[in-house]
Amino acid sequence: MDIETLVELTDNLVFTYTKQHLDSLQKEVLKGTLNGKKYPQIADDCKRHPDHIKQVGTKLWKLLSDVLDKNIKKSNARSILENFYFSHISNTANDWVNINSHHINICGENRQSPTPKNKSSPTPTDQNQNKTNPENNYDLSEAPDLYSLCDRHTELTTLKQWIENHTRIITILGLTGIGKSTLTVKLIQQIKDKFDYIIWRNIDNYSSCESLQTNIIQFLSQTDSPSQKPEKISNSQTINNQLIDYLRKHRCLLIFDNLQEIFASGKLAGTYLEKHENYGKCFQQIATSSHQSCLLLLSQEQPKITSGNNHIQTLKLDSLGKSATAILESKNLTDKDQWLELINLYSGNPLWLNIIADAVEDLCDGNVAQFLSCKNLYLGDLEPILEIIFQHLSELEKQVILWIANQETAVDISNTPPDFPLSHSDLWKAIQSLKRRCLVTKKDNLFAILTVLKQYIISKK
Ligand SMILES: Nc1ncnc2c1ncn2[C@@H]1O[C@H](COP(=O)(O)OP(=O)(O)OP(=O)(O)O)[C@@H](O)[C@H]1O
Ligand SMILES: [Mg+2]
Repeated sequence: MDIETLVELTDNLVFTYTKQHLDSLQKEVLKGTLNGKKYPQIADDCKRHPDHIKQVGTKLWKLLSDVLDKNIKKSNARSILENFYFSHISNTANDWVNINSHHINICGENRQSPTPKNKSSPTPTDQNQNKTNPENNYDLSEAPDLYSLCDRHTELTTLKQWIENHTRIITILGLTGIGKSTLTVKLIQQIKDKFDYIIWRNIDNYSSCESLQTNIIQFLSQTDSPSQKPEKISNSQTINNQLIDYLRKHRCLLIFDNLQEIFASGKLAGTYLEKHENYGKCFQQIATSSHQSCLLLLSQEQPKITSGNNHIQTLKLDSLGKSATAILESKNLTDKDQWLELINLYSGNPLWLNIIADAVEDLCDGNVAQFLSCKNLYLGDLEPILEIIFQHLSELEKQVILWIANQETAVDISNTPPDFPLSHSDLWKAIQSLKRRCLVTKKDNLFAILTVLKQYIISKK
């Protein structure tokens, strides 16, 4: 999308919300930023002092963040605005699009009238159409695209079964890159006719639980008549109640992706950041209230939610196993008989296998046997990924993971050496937390850590 159009659309959007257009300096700052310029360059172009331009920029990002309900900064403004417009505009043939329940003119004409050209309050026929044509009620603009998929048949069957049984919260848990988002997009393709509404939200696009819930409520209240529309409120309990009302009234599938973003670094798994503790209350209420909807949580770290009667379930997404050979087939690799070994060493993780297959091509001309004959497992571009995982752990977990990494074999946690520095309870707490991050595996009562993580820790010494 060209920059002039993007600035024009953003101006229309701001006008719809604030009844004021961007002034010429704000437009210059936006244009310069979208063109990749730094503040001093923009200041030069506008013949203003750089400090002033910076101030205008800071206020502008705050304004756009409020309007779009996303955390917009200079560095991400272009990608967020482009994604936003593509996702809302590419689906319409009208001059007007509906964004957060506001009708925005995408042609930049007729500015003073926010009355939609092609929209009117829904008639019963419209509402029926909504029912029979649920396309109108999906918002998957924040979901990733779907590429070819190795078999996850068992997982899909389990998820469909839970959804059919009216499970209220399903957590899809797994390491980064294991395929949580991809699997969920595939699942949606197969079950979309079972829901009135499907809404996908990336947690890290919202500053708080309240702003996310408000955004969803706005979407769900689109077809309400003015008298039915909920009042704008700020109290978190009331927002929770309003959301539950909608989950009761309609069969909704809500997807909250990247849930790990609301958990604290340096703490045991599932500890909410202070500013995100309201998510815990929201999940608890969705798990324990009666309604007909389902919340899917996609996370690298397991949230702690309690509820009886099978209202909550967790699917731990593991290695793709043999089916990951399809990923390797798409690369120029030889030695097919050793592919399974390669898959197992890299935990059958599709992202990691893609990265490593590229390394095998680059370093060994695709010769897997040669790649595997190296004394140490090669990490390459996996190192920064593993570094983030390791740095996120609590001190207790780091201590335990270092201990396990240095053992020859898997460990028996009921039988620690006499000089083991941690109490039994601390060791078990750490192991449980590492399990909630999918970093340890258990076999025959023995615990081990992922091979790549072991290699990363050993090579760090
Ligand atoms: N079943 C699959 N078959 C082939 N490729 C897959 C499969 N699942 C995921 N991938 C690929 O692996 C990569 C990572 O997948 P995805 O983004 O779904 O992982 P994720 O678990 O959501 O990771 P994160 O926690 O970082 O969000 C993507 O490039 C995706 O296309
Ligand atoms: Mg994901």
